[in-house]
This record gives sequence, structure tokens and C-alpha cells, in this order.
Amino acid sequence: MNLLEVRNVSKAFGSLKALDDVSFTVEAGSIFGIAGPNGSGKSTLFNAITNIPFAPDRGEVIFEGNTVTGMRAPELARRGLARTFQRETSFDKLTVFENAVLAATYGKPDQSSAVNRRNAEEALELVGLDRRSFGRLADELSVFDRKCLMLATAVAMKPKILLLDEPASGLTKPEIETSIGLIKQIAQQGITIVLIEHVLTFLMTLSQQLLVLNQGKVLASGDPREVIGDPRVVEAYLGSRRHDA
Ligand SMILES: Nc1ncnc2c1ncn2[C@@H]1O[C@H](COP(=O)(O)OP(=O)(O)OP(=O)(O)O)[C@@H](O)[C@H]1O
Ligand SMILES: [Mg+2]
Repeated sequence: MNLLEVRNVSKAFGSLKALDDVSFTVEAGSIFGIAGPNGSGKSTLFNAITNIPFAPDRGEVIFEGNTVTGMRAPELARRGLARTFQRETSFDKLTVFENAVLAATYGKPDQSSAVNRRNAEEALELVGLDRRSFGRLADELSVFDRKCLMLATAVAMKPKILLLDEPASGLTKPEIETSIGLIKQIAQQGITIVLIEHVLTFLMTLSQQLLVLNQGKVLASGDPREVIGDPRVVEAYLGSRRHDA
């Protein structure tokens, strides 16, 4: 079953076509990888899907068979769509636990505080932020723990689909290994994942499908091994500067 369908989505900034007629579908229960050189439109794609902070200029986003293009963020959260950001984002002056409870509550004003707290606790424990860290302020955490907190806030929303924007950027090799394990665990809970990443081992280990963007267009998509061997993909990567990998 298709959980998410992106149909002919375009987004321009002045004369720059950041997304140019992008289409793809994500199967329920899968991990769908997205790669592409810097500036190819990956984050813009997540922004346009989630309407944070803008909707596409053209095209449609279809979630569980319903058009959700331009829908407000709390409503998308209530329907089961969550995302993380390329830079660690949290409420710095709130505690770890408060950040997770706030996320669990987002878009669900009628959900009981007991359920919110339980969802927050489970999500924090899943990412390895144990009870001793619950009372710490978010801005006291290490970069890795801040990434884990952002992941936990997304999981606490109990999404059906989770869009992850470069979860491995800035991490050390062992931290990357830990993150791969965490994402596998999240997927095992039945959460469908769309994963933007530059670290190719990360994408190749996790993804069942891979899409490569270049200058706002879909360059290739399909089986990850075939896509990565596609000469056009090799050229797009070698012909561009990469910030890591
Ligand atoms: N809000 C904005 N206003 C103007 N231009 C923007 C805006 N957001 C993105 N762009 C431009 O759109 C293009 C695509 O940017 P985007 O951030 O989606 O790339 P990306 O593939 O996520 O790159 P990276 O790998 O560096 O994160 C870039 O040229 C970028 O400068
Ligand atoms: Mg980006």
C-alpha cells in the first residue's frame, strides 16, 4: 500500500527551481532513502511535504489516499506525519522530558496527559535518553544527544510516517552506527521512514528504495544498488562538492 505519494511537486525561489516536477511513492512499512548533492532540493522537499514553512507552488501531497497539500502542521501531526530537521531543534530552555511531552501533545489537544507522558517516556527510552537525563535542559546536551532528543520528539508524536533530514550529519562513526540501530528500531515499530542522508553507507544499509535528486529534479529512483551504480548519479556526485560522506 502507498502511504505517501508526492505528485508533480514544484517549488521555486525567484528564478531558482528548487523542486521541479518531483514525483514518487513510499510504501507503507518501508524505509525510503533520498540522496543528492548539496542544494539539490532535499530539505525543500520535506518543507513542501510538511508545509513547514511553505507549501509547494504546484503538485500534490497524498497521505493515506487523501490530499494533504498545504495542510497545517498540527493537522498533519494528528494524521500521523512527523519530521525532523537538518539542524538539531528543540526548546533549549525546556527539559528533555518537557520537550518530549510537548511533542506527544502536538496536534492532539484531547489526548490525556497520562498518554502524553507515557508516549514521551517510551520515545526517550527508545533513543537511549534514560531517566537520569529527563530533567536536563535541552541546551545542556551533547550534539549527539540533541539529535537523539529531536528523534525522540518525533517518535513521541506516534507518527505513521517519519521524515528524517540528515540524521547522521556531524556524527562520529560510532554515533552513526548507533543511529542506524535506532532507525531500524523505529522502523520495527511499524513507522514508515523517509530518510535524507549524505552518508551513503547509512542510506545503503537502511533503504529499500532510493531516490536521487539533482538540481530539483528526480535523477534516478528504485533499487538502491542500481541507483547508486547509475552513471548519471555517479556524475552528479563527483561533479559536486559534498559537505561530508
Ligand atoms: N527559503 C529559501 N529561500 C531561498 N532559497 C532557498 C530557500 N530554501 C532553499 N533554498 C535554495 O533552494 C535550493 C535547494 O535547497 P535545499 O536546502 O533544499 O537543498 P538540500 O538538498 O537540502 O542541500 P543540503 O544537502 O546542503 O542540505 C538551494 O539552492 C537553496 O539555496
Ligand atoms: Mg538539506
